[in-house]
Amino acid sequence: MRKYQFPEGFLWGGATAANQIEGGFYEGNKGLNIADVLPGGKERYKILMNPGFDFKIHRDQYYYPNHEAIDFYHRYKEDIGFFAEMGFKAFRMSIAWTRIFPNGDELEANEEGLAFYDGVFDELHKHGIQPVVTLSHYEMPLHLVKEYGGWRNRQVVTFFERYVKAIFNRYKNKVKFWMTFNEINSSLVMPIQGLGFSIQKEEDKYQPTFQAYHHQFVASSIAVKACHEIIPNSKIGCMILFAPVYSFDCNPENVMYALQEEQLFNYFCADVQVRGEYPSFIKRYFKEHHIELEIQEGDLELIKEGTVDYIGFSYYMSRTEKKVKTDAESAQGNLIGGIRNPFLKASDWGWEIDPEGLRISLNKLYDRYQKPLFVVENGLGAYDKVEEDGTINDTYRIDYLRDHIKAMSEAIEDGVELIGYTSWGCIDMVSMSTGEFSKRYGFIYVDKHDDGSGSLKRMRKKSFFWYKDVIATNGERL
Ligand code: BG6
Repeated sequence: MRKYQFPEGFLWGGATAANQIEGGFYEGNKGLNIADVLPGGKERYKILMNPGFDFKIHRDQYYYPNHEAIDFYHRYKEDIGFFAEMGFKAFRMSIAWTRIFPNGDELEANEEGLAFYDGVFDELHKHGIQPVVTLSHYEMPLHLVKEYGGWRNRQVVTFFERYVKAIFNRYKNKVKFWMTFNEINSSLVMPIQGLGFSIQKEEDKYQPTFQAYHHQFVASSIAVKACHEIIPNSKIGCMILFAPVYSFDCNPENVMYALQEEQLFNYFCADVQVRGEYPSFIKRYFKEHHIELEIQEGDLELIKEGTVDYIGFSYYMSRTEKKVKTDAESAQGNLIGGIRNPFLKASDWGWEIDPEGLRISLNKLYDRYQKPLFVVENGLGAYDKVEEDGTINDTYRIDYLRDHIKAMSEAIEDGVELIGYTSWGCIDMVSMSTGEFSKRYGFIYVDKHDDGSGSLKRMRKKSFFWYKDVIATNGERL
């Protein structure tokens, strides 16, 4: 049997985000964030994709799954125990900004929030697990959204700076791996969660979106510089949603169209954060969409100085593009659109499954940037069934992960520098795009359902034992 090779010290583990696991949405003086006002069910995806969201809670109409989530807030020791049993080397999580600065614009950090993450990091270290922390994962303080207009407002950069310096200072001896903004490029299609504002009309989106991006790039560079100063041995990365774009056919017009889509979606943010410059292709795009950025003196120098150490990225799917497409061809459910790829199968939610696309992504990113890469999200959202004897036989998840891990090993042989793999949703949690619990990714089943019912009991799935073995053999036995 073929043995797959991974480097010594490869960071095997799992990934989560505070808003999707913690719950305790009013505990420890936490303030409300964007995820707290997103309802569960089909409504959520419509909100994320369409203009005009009001950022209010309508309890009479909807259930809000992130409020309790899977109660990691109270059960983190038990959950980390499961991760340790699987042999995790790394655990990716985010800090909820609103636990540290409940409204976002306070001058002093909230001690209860800081103490909570001290507890989590101490527990991880007790088991030899390295925390990998995202500074902002779709959970901006709601107050900054409502009172300041989200990232459109330059003042938010100052609030973010205060937040990141507070946590770097507090956790400087506990966290070495950091990432700035989760899937920063996703705001090009879903601005609400990442940029903290809802576009009112489709045609008005360009100027505010790219101005908000400029503020995030400045904030990201401030964070990178502060991280290096405060924690000298730290590594801080960007985090991109990477979905390689394929041309539907060899018609040069389609090839060019696919290239442009790839430049804008996959490379624009990464170019700024990794190379420290706005890429040349974006200048034409700005001109054609009448975008004129307000850039303050010193911003471009700061962006140049604050480049990231590694590239973290999520990989779930590829995307196939054609210049002129019909509705019938569209890849329904594929998170970021495109047309249906006839060579690929899709998940129950319509996300196209393409392991070779991960190898392609790793090669593309490494060719372009020559920086260490870290796959910080990848996984299969699926319906799981608990059998009468209590087993959960998620062989489909094992197949999915095995194929993607093989693809990573091929990319390493291709010469790519890959430092780790934290599969998404190592424990079942609230889905980001649909707010469902039934879209499960975990190795650990959580008894919690779309209507909010469930005991929150944790159970090991078949994939739990499989992944444990993968880690124990450093990926040799898949
Ligand atoms: C990524 C996000 O886009 O995909 C996660 O960073 C999210 O927050 C994950 O949960 C899977 O998406 P979903 O919608 O299936 O939860």
